[in-house]
Amino acid sequence: AEPAGLPRDLTGRHVVVSAGGTREPLDPVRYLGNRSSGRQGFALARVAAHRGAEVTLVAANTSDLVVPAGVRLRRVGTARELRSELLEVADGADAVVMSAAVADFRPSESAEHKIKKTEGEPPTVRLDRNPDVLGELVEQRANGRLRTGVIAGFAAETGDPDTTVLEYGRKKLVRKGCDLLVVNAVGDGRAFEVEDNAGWLLASSGVEHPVPHGSKTLLAARVWDAVAEQFAAAPD
Ligand code: CTP
Ligand code: CA
Repeated sequence: AEPAGLPRDLTGRHVVVSAGGTREPLDPVRYLGNRSSGRQGFALARVAAHRGAEVTLVAANTSDLVVPAGVRLRRVGTARELRSELLEVADGADAVVMSAAVADFRPSESAEHKIKKTEGEPPTVRLDRNPDVLGELVEQRANGRLRTGVIAGFAAETGDPDTTVLEYGRKKLVRKGCDLLVVNAVGDGRAFEVEDNAGWLLASSGVEHPVPHGSKTLLAARVWDAVAEQFAAAPD
């Protein structure tokens, strides 16, 4: 059942969400992957649908999650598959939120047959760089090849003795060139495989909102609030 009292402020909008984590094959049975469960992206899709949006969810390796009602699902495996699906569905979308954990690198070769445990030196895995999907979305929009409204990214940061999570987030927002960046503080078991998040919501306008600890559903609501603010600032 739909929660009562939710704003239907995304009615008439088409939004795209990427979720999960890409897997880059080493051979037919093995891959290079990451711990992203897809729960944050699914929460984003569910909340957007509740708020009236038409939602396309591009999901990488999230087979254990229940697809929210009314959400159009496209399943992908690798970063390159994610890229081609997104470039297709993002065109004409009012917003794209990239919550998927995209592998920065992939094995240069994927063996056709299962790699065997032979004697002697263990094999070396060579890596190639994957496309930066968020970066390409921003670039294609700037070139006029993609008609996409708001483009939002996610960043999981641990910070270090020299640079805080917030400072890394600000730098990444500038480097990525997107309109919004959700910065999650990770480490100590936060964010990955758990139910809550904490961090900041940074807008290219310079507006910065702290995001308190709370559920992924709550964070999703804050993200759509920020996207809706951008819709209001740039009416179409
Ligand atoms: N992203 C992407 N394609 C990639 C890597 C990341 O689209 N190949 C997107 C993610 O979905 C996320 C955002 O970019 O929304 C930030 O990802 P992150 O890994 O934090 O940024 P990177 O630029 O890869 O920087 P680094 O991993 O070095 O911190
Ligand atoms: Ca990365």
